[in-house]
Amino acid sequence: MTERNAPIGVFDSGVGGLTVAREIIRQMPNEHIVYFGDTARLPYGSKSQDTIIRYSRQIIRFLMTKEVKAIVIACNTASAYALDTVAGEFSLPIIGVINAGAYSAVHATRNGKIGVIGTEGTIGSGIYTEVMKRMRPDIEVTGKSCPLFVPLVEEGLLHDSVTDEIASRYLSALKSRFIDTLVLGCTHYPLLRSTLGRLMGSDVTLVNPAYETAIELKALLEERQLTCISGQGGQEKYQFFVSDLAEKFTAFATSILPMEAKGTRKINIEEY
Ligand code: DGL
Repeated sequence: MTERNAPIGVFDSGVGGLTVAREIIRQMPNEHIVYFGDTARLPYGSKSQDTIIRYSRQIIRFLMTKEVKAIVIACNTASAYALDTVAGEFSLPIIGVINAGAYSAVHATRNGKIGVIGTEGTIGSGIYTEVMKRMRPDIEVTGKSCPLFVPLVEEGLLHDSVTDEIASRYLSALKSRFIDTLVLGCTHYPLLRSTLGRLMGSDVTLVNPAYETAIELKALLEERQLTCISGQGGQEKYQFFVSDLAEKFTAFATSILPMEAKGTRKINIEEY
């Protein structure tokens, strides 16, 4: 397989990054993907930066054994904590989701008031505010961490009264700031999109960074002449690996992706 027909590596702490993989599949149907979900070590959102950097290095080393041509860190927490450090350590292009999300939000807002929801790690890092203010200094950004959303999504409680109640409490702080744009700053959150949209109201634009991330990836592959030539990417188009509980992951992946996610394999990520 020539380098341009090699797969793209995508990783997250669990199923959340599948929302990014879904967008890559939609925008670049020729591309092959190797996905890794670190289900044994989830959640990332409440862990320290050092730990997330160590996890990210291990996953990148694992993905490189699959000869990927580029890597997408499909996790806001790992993008916030590890991207700057790991991007210079490996010989292949690595992108995250935060620049893409910030760019979309800054272009979507009409009143200059943007809300960002994410894990404690992402919100605590202040990275969205920093990146958006660099793009447009007069922007007002309000961040709110929503630590219960990831377990709710991982449990499949996407449409449930418990999720509604918790989401209302988290979002009230943002509503009182009159935001007109809300960044779903955790790759798990687009799966709660209908609940979040209903609670925020139709005047608030929800930004899913996955869309812009796929555009950024496409531009990067084109610039480096790394786009896959149709039908030449080898046999297994989409491969899924996890660090724990492969069956549960497969069922979830199949419900999110436009195809059946067959044959998810469990690996020992600590070996990498
Ligand atoms: N989906 C990840 C993110 O985008 C984190 C979820 C977790 O806490 O593991 O931040």
